[in-house]
Amino acid sequence: MARVEDRTFICSQRREDAGPTNNWIDPQEMRVTLDGLFDGAMRGRTMYVVPFSMGPLGSSIAHIGVELSDSPYVVANMRIMTRMGRAVYDVLGENGECVPCVHSVGAPLGGGRKDVAWPCNDTRYIVHFPESREIWSFGSGYGGNALLGKKCFALRIASTMGRDEGWLAEHMLILGVTSPQGRKYHVAAAFPSVCGKTNFAMLIPPRDLNGWKVTTIGDDIALIKPGRDGRLYAINPEAGYFGVAPGTSEKTNFNAMATLKENVIFTNVALTDDGDIWWEDMTDTPPAHLIDWQGRDWTPEIAKETGAKAAHPNARFTAPASQCPSIDPDWENPAGVPIDAFIFGGRRSNTVPLVTEARDWKSGVYMAAMMGSETTAAAAGQQGIVRRNPFAMLPFCSYNMSDYFGHWLKMGERLEALNAKTPKFFCVNWFRKGDDGKFVWPGFGENMRVLNWMIGRIEGTTKGEEHAFGILPRYEDIDWGALGFTREQFEKVISVNDAAWRDELFKKLKQGLPEALPEARADMEKRLVA
Ligand code: OXD
Ligand code: MN
Repeated sequence: MARVEDRTFICSQRREDAGPTNNWIDPQEMRVTLDGLFDGAMRGRTMYVVPFSMGPLGSSIAHIGVELSDSPYVVANMRIMTRMGRAVYDVLGENGECVPCVHSVGAPLGGGRKDVAWPCNDTRYIVHFPESREIWSFGSGYGGNALLGKKCFALRIASTMGRDEGWLAEHMLILGVTSPQGRKYHVAAAFPSVCGKTNFAMLIPPRDLNGWKVTTIGDDIALIKPGRDGRLYAINPEAGYFGVAPGTSEKTNFNAMATLKENVIFTNVALTDDGDIWWEDMTDTPPAHLIDWQGRDWTPEIAKETGAKAAHPNARFTAPASQCPSIDPDWENPAGVPIDAFIFGGRRSNTVPLVTEARDWKSGVYMAAMMGSETTAAAAGQQGIVRRNPFAMLPFCSYNMSDYFGHWLKMGERLEALNAKTPKFFCVNWFRKGDDGKFVWPGFGENMRVLNWMIGRIEGTTKGEEHAFGILPRYEDIDWGALGFTREQFEKVISVNDAAWRDELFKKLKQGLPEALPEARADMEKRLVA
C-alpha cells in the first residue's frame, strides 16, 4: 500500500557512497541474501519480460530497462507508465545500454499454496546496486516498490548515472506556462510525495487570469540534461500518471478527473454499488453505501463511528498521460523542454513563506537542501511530522546527499561558466495554517498567482523585497484579481519569523546540514535579525 523506505537498500561498494540517509548493505552480502530469496520465488507463476524506455523512445535524455516480474498487475501498470514493448528492443539494438530490473512478489505457488488477490511476502527488499546499475525487488506488489522504472530506476539509479555523467534525475513535475502575450516558459518543481505535484502540473488558472495557460509535461520525475546551448532540457521519463486518488475531484484537479475516464487502473479505492469507484473528497456527499478498499461494507455512518476510510489514503490511479486535457504538445519531444525555473516546495503548517526567490543558483541550492515537509501516507511510517527532505529527494537519491548538493553546485558553476541562461530558483509553501488550524492559502488554481509573480521575476517585470533568504513578494506585487485575498491573510502566509528560522536553521537542521554549503548558510545567518 506504500513505499517501504526502511526496506529500501543502496548497495554501493563503499558505505560512504550511499551516505548516512540511505540503508546500506555490503553488495556481496546482499547478493547472497537475494540469491536465497529469489531461489524458486516465482514458482507456479508466469514470469513476464518487460522491455521499457524511461522517456520518449530514442530520446538522448531517455534510458532503457528490462523488468522481469511475476506480477501481471506490474505488467499492466508498466504498460501505462512507460513506453513498453518490441520497439524498445529496436532502440536497444545488439549492444545498447539497459538497466536490468528483477521483481517478484515473493509468493510461489504449488505444494498446496493457493493464490490470493494481492500476493506478497512479509519479507521485503527493494535493492539497488548503483555501480552495476541493477535493481532487485522482492516481496511487494506496490507501485513504488514494484514498477521498477519509476522510483528505483528513473530516480535512484538515474541519480547516480546523472552524477557520473553530468546531468540530473529529479523528483519534479514539469509544466509549461504561456503568458497572454504568447511567451512560453517551462518550470520544474520538486515536492515530496502527496504535496500536490499532480495538481500543480495540471493547474487551471482562475478565470480572471484566463489569458494564461498551463500545460502538463510530467507530474513526478524529470530527467534533465544540459543542451549544446548551455540551457537545461528536461523530459518526463514516464508515459502515465501514478497519482494519489483521495482528495482528487473536479474542484481540486479537473484535468486529472478528465484523464480518468478510460484505460485506467484504480488501486485500493472504494467501489460503488453500481460498479463505479469512489474515494474521500471525490464528491462533497459520499455515496450512501460502498465496498471499501479492503472489501468491507462502508457507509458514512460507519465512517463517523469508526473513522474507517473508504479508500486507502495512498489509493492510486494509473492513467495514460496522453489522455490529459492539459497535456503539452511537447511532452514527448525527445529533445526535452528548456527549463526557466526550479521550484521547491514542502508541506509546512508554519515558518516557511508562500514563496521566496533565491538570490542565485548557490543560495537556491541551499534553500532546496534545507527543505522539510510533514510526512504523508505515500511512505509507510508515522504521518504529519516534519522530516528534512532536501530537494524532495531524501528517499530517492542513491548516493551521499552531500555529494548530491555538490553535484548541483557543480552543475550551476558549469552553466554559469558557459554564460548560459540558468533557471531561477523559488521555494513555495501552499500549506501554512492559521491559528484555527485551517489552511490560509486557497491553493490549487490560485497557485497561478504565485506562478505569475515568478514569471514576472524571470521577465524582470515584477518586484519583490529582499529578505534573509531571498526575495519575497509584497502584497502589491501579486495580481489578486477576483480572489479577494486580504493584506492580513497575505501576512499570515508570507511572514518570516526570524526566531522560528533561527530555530529551524540551527537546532532542527543541525543534523544533516549540507556542509558543502557553508557560505550560503553564513550569509543567511548574517541576514537574520538576532
Ligand atoms: C510517488 C511517490 O508515488 O512519491 O510518486 O511516492
Ligand atoms: Mn513521487
